[in-house]
Amino acid sequence: MAVPMKILTAENVSYAYKTKYQTVYALREVSCTFETGKLYAIVGRSGSGKSTLLSMLSGMAMPDQGKIIVQGEELTAKKLPKHRRDNISVIYQAFNLFPQLTVLENVTFPMEIVRRERDGYTEKARTLLESVGIKENQFRKLPAQLSGGEQQRVAIARSLGSPGKIMLADEPTGNLDTENGKIVLDILKDLSYKKGYCVIIVTHDMDIAAKSDAVYHMQDGRLERG
Ligand SMILES: Nc1ncnc2c1ncn2[C@@H]1O[C@H](COP(=O)(O)OP(=O)(O)OP(=O)(O)O)[C@@H](O)[C@H]1O
Ligand SMILES: [Mg+2]
Repeated sequence: MAVPMKILTAENVSYAYKTKYQTVYALREVSCTFETGKLYAIVGRSGSGKSTLLSMLSGMAMPDQGKIIVQGEELTAKKLPKHRRDNISVIYQAFNLFPQLTVLENVTFPMEIVRRERDGYTEKARTLLESVGIKENQFRKLPAQLSGGEQQRVAIARSLGSPGKIMLADEPTGNLDTENGKIVLDILKDLSYKKGYCVIIVTHDMDIAAKSDAVYHMQDGRLERG
């Protein structure tokens, strides 16, 4: 595998949710660096700021203070859409598949929207689905007709339609039993070790934390490596 490369850095990132009645300081001067070919775990109590950190890293919002640096370049508000489109793959605890679309369509639909190439979406989607162990006879089913583990694998295939090498996973095994959790973790591990992805997993699962290259702990909006 290629030499690990710094792909994503947060530098003194702070972020607060402001409503009319209160301000919640969700991130306080968070700094961390992530490399390609590695698997990272972010752990911490509910409300400690883990998902907020992922949304900063994925370019869903700009930090109030501090910087996000992607491949040496600082993210600006103007660059957020391109960052989300070209660099980032995301998966969630609740899978978030489109319920009315078939398994295959769930994977082709985002590609059709982005229209990176003129066609070939179906072929690419089939390859991605097969790469996560979803078989041809599942392609025409609706998500509800699949098991949770299969749905998460479809969500991974869908997210890999993006060309980016950064995979952000927010509690990807939170709704899965041990066996399916292990299958999903193995897919994420292969992405990092075999395909060179930088994989960042928010998790409560200590088994995932134990198997990752580095663990970050979040507490009250602060991040510690340990
Ligand atoms: N949209 C929002 N508006 C206001 N406050 C929010 C919003 N989203 C999150 N928060 C608050 O920001 C803090 C950090 O939330 P965040 O979702 O990042 O935590 P988390 O570590 O992901 O928690 P969990 O493990 O429960 O998913 C919490 O205090 C939360 O209540
Ligand atoms: Mg969260």
